Amino acid sequence: GAAVEVDISALKPGEKMTVEWRGKPVWIVRRTPEQVEALAKIDSQLADPNSNRTAYPTPEYAKNEWRSIKKEFWVGVGICTHLGCSPSDKFQAGPQASLPDDWNGGFLCPCHGSTFDLAGRVFKNKPAPDNLEVPQHMYLSDTRLVIG
Ligand code: FES
Repeated sequence: GAAVEVDISALKPGEKMTVEWRGKPVWIVRRTPEQVEALAKIDSQLADPNSNRTAYPTPEYAKNEWRSIKKEFWVGVGICTHLGCSPSDKFQAGPQASLPDDWNGGFLCPCHGSTFDLAGRVFKNKPAPDNLEVPQHMYLSDTRLVIG
């Protein structure tokens, strides 16, 4: 399928937008500085913090703590790597059912309870076998992104 060009200029910190690419929902999340900082603190709780698993190989330029080109923006496919359900946003901090105590935002799959951080990294001991997929992407400018 063709690449999709996206204008991200209206996306505010703490917000997510969804675009369709090859029939899949692709999420673009603009993380707050606090959310970026929190990513570095939870490696020990994650199944594959450095994205070494290969069921959905992470592009080399996204094999880092924030799984993206720019720390602020995360681009990922919104399909659970377990059985393909659609994870829901859990962005607010504070105690919530099924979520780690020090939750700082991410995604919760309603089907079998897999939880992901705001870089799409799956938490340990969850049914999802891999982190959420990061599609090939690149920036044309500060506000224009190409997916695919
Ligand atoms: Fe997401 Fe099973 S489909 S946890």
